[in-house]
Amino acid sequence: MATTAETAAKPAPTPFDLVGGRDSVARLVGAFYDLMASDPAYADLRKMHAADLTPMKNSLTGYLTGWLGGPRDWFEENPGKCMVSLHGPLGVTKETAQQWVSAMSKALDIAEIDSALAAAMAQAFTQMASGMIRSD
Ligand code: HEM
Repeated sequence: MATTAETAAKPAPTPFDLVGGRDSVARLVGAFYDLMASDPAYADLRKMHAADLTPMKNSLTGYLTGWLGGPRDWFEENPGKCMVSLHGPLGVTKETAQQWVSAMSKALDIAEIDSALAAAMAQAFTQMASGMIRSD
């Protein structure tokens, strides 16, 4: 039987573990940008981004990895970077914020993220996205 010390030493799984680790986060981000690039419903959102989405894929994968409780390389490489402030000058509108959340919700489904976790993530993204809206 495990002693109390052994039980206490085993950390609880993080959301990063529950999502399925780095491969799952990369799959989610890949599905998100593929949708953004191919579905005309996200044309306005796509237009805001640079032609080459590769740097964005890497950055969002790194950010979400740390945000979900996994390795924090992105946060160490970007000390003090605030995601909401970073989006301030980008002119996010209600429509483009909705497009971001809609594409991400579909991507959570495509990447087959656990449904309870996907719902919690979608709710958190909705709140973050609404805080990024700066113009009508
Ligand atoms: C509210 C809707 C959003 C819009 C319209 C939007 C749009 C953008 C745009 C245009 C960029 C710059 C892209 C480029 O230079 O090509 C960007 C960067 C980024 N966004 Fe968003 N974004 C939104 C929400 C979010 C959310 C909720 C997150 C995080 C969960 C996020 C994570 C990032 C990251 C990690 C970067 C790259 C930052 C860097 O590497 O410096 N975005 N976003």
